Amino acid sequence: MGEESPVVAIRDLKTVAGKVVRLQGWLQGKRSNGKVIFLLVRDGTGLCQCVVEAASVDAFSKASELTQESSLIVTGSVRLDERAPGAAELAVSELAVLQVAKDYPISRKAHGVDFLMDHRHLWLRSQRPVALFRVRHTVIRAIRNFFDENGFTLMDMPILVPGAGEDRQSLFPVDYFGEKLFLTQTGQLYLESACMAMGKVYCFGPTFRAEKSKTRRHLTEFWMVEPEVAFADVDEVMRLAEDMICAIVAEVLSKNRADLEFLGRDVAALETIMKPFPRMTYTEAGELLRGEPIRRKLEQELEQDKARLQVLITELDAAEAVLKTAKKGWQQEKQEERIRELREAVGELDQELKVRPDHIQLAQSFKWGEDLGGSDETLVSRQFEQPVFVTDYPREAKAFYMKVSPTDPRVVKNFDLLAPEGYGEIIGGSQREEDPEVIAESMTAKGLRPEDYAWYLDLRRYGSVPHGGFGLGVERTVAWLCGIKHVRETIPFPRTMGRVYP
Ligand code: 4AD
Ligand code: MG
Repeated sequence: MGEESPVVAIRDLKTVAGKVVRLQGWLQGKRSNGKVIFLLVRDGTGLCQCVVEAASVDAFSKASELTQESSLIVTGSVRLDERAPGAAELAVSELAVLQVAKDYPISRKAHGVDFLMDHRHLWLRSQRPVALFRVRHTVIRAIRNFFDENGFTLMDMPILVPGAGEDRQSLFPVDYFGEKLFLTQTGQLYLESACMAMGKVYCFGPTFRAEKSKTRRHLTEFWMVEPEVAFADVDEVMRLAEDMICAIVAEVLSKNRADLEFLGRDVAALETIMKPFPRMTYTEAGELLRGEPIRRKLEQELEQDKARLQVLITELDAAEAVLKTAKKGWQQEKQEERIRELREAVGELDQELKVRPDHIQLAQSFKWGEDLGGSDETLVSRQFEQPVFVTDYPREAKAFYMKVSPTDPRVVKNFDLLAPEGYGEIIGGSQREEDPEVIAESMTAKGLRPEDYAWYLDLRRYGSVPHGGFGLGVERTVAWLCGIKHVRETIPFPRTMGRVYP
């Protein structure tokens, strides 16, 4: 009987109630009351409680040997049960063990992020990363669908390049048969050529930046989607970005509600995302940062958060007292988990409160001409429930290819899109400069040699048209959508200044 029963994915169990089926997966956990063993099996599509009664002698004795992450095939009949995860459980008749896993290093109890990252190859199996990567998958598919359905052609751009696409400082050199090449920082320059061939194009691939910053927003290897549109001005490009973000949010809300809830995301905050997004110029953002109202608001928040920290510390003390009297086993593990969460929350808030006065100070001393810093972006984006466009940055703070404003030569026709709730920049975009002389001048000012970019300047000689585009960072977008602080968790194997293993 066992051999013939069909293999079913856990997510589809509900559709085969009463049938005998096989599940293939791994043991996430188990508990027992002596007469019955409950196996919690995961298969990548979901979790299923498999019930093994002592009466099934063979299955019961195998089940009692099973350890966390042992691989197995379970045969049994499907019972609908609203209380079970996935609303179905399996009454086990047969159990085949593929391997009993010895001493799986990741247990239910407290692990720090560094330990988990050292075991990233195994940590991927835990529920939190699984939920995150389901969302990431939806985000990428939503992006591709959006461009494919709106007349864009996908064009893949090179990863090995002869020079900077953004700035010279963050290039990774590569030895290319004795010649010095670099890993690409952006597909944009090449994409502009493709745009003159195809009209509307996009590229989607890994990009590299030797960022010496250890912030929660920076990776050295990240994925970026970049559209480029011929005959478009900056306003049209911003509307495109807005439409794309709305399409991504809608798709994630429709496909990943359960994942978002598992991650503790405030889903309501995503449901309110609606175009048009607010727009302000860089100069207005600077006035906002320097202003008296924001200072008062921030100082008030600082006081509130200090009080919140005290509450958390009291809760932590209480939880630690409870742990001393907790029964061994599940109760104790649950309490340890709670303590770990509280400790993390206390640590994070404490850290943040230490730098907050500096951030307020930085905002107040904002100087026109510099790029917005990370903390400035956080402050601006915390003032809005919608993503907010900040436009018209000072020319010297931004990349050489951005179009100089015809009405104010000190600024460029660019925009950053800042995600709300303090997440900050997720998109950078602009209309592109068409005048080859102006581009050459900007290049020289930034230490780049126009002669190295002869091919790029050619685009301005042969049928130049107004055009523009943007780049969206996948990891920062997923972090925002999932309500995750640090981008390192949103890519399977993060590369940062401090980590390239595993
Ligand atoms: O603003 P950036 O540098 O824009 C460009 O690269 C343009 N060439 C895009 C274009 O117009 N075609 O980067 C775009 C986005 C950022 O908004 C951010 O989301 C992400 O890429 N990003 C990073 N993500 C993670 N780690 C880093 N170090 C990142 N640097 C940029
Ligand atoms: Mg940028």
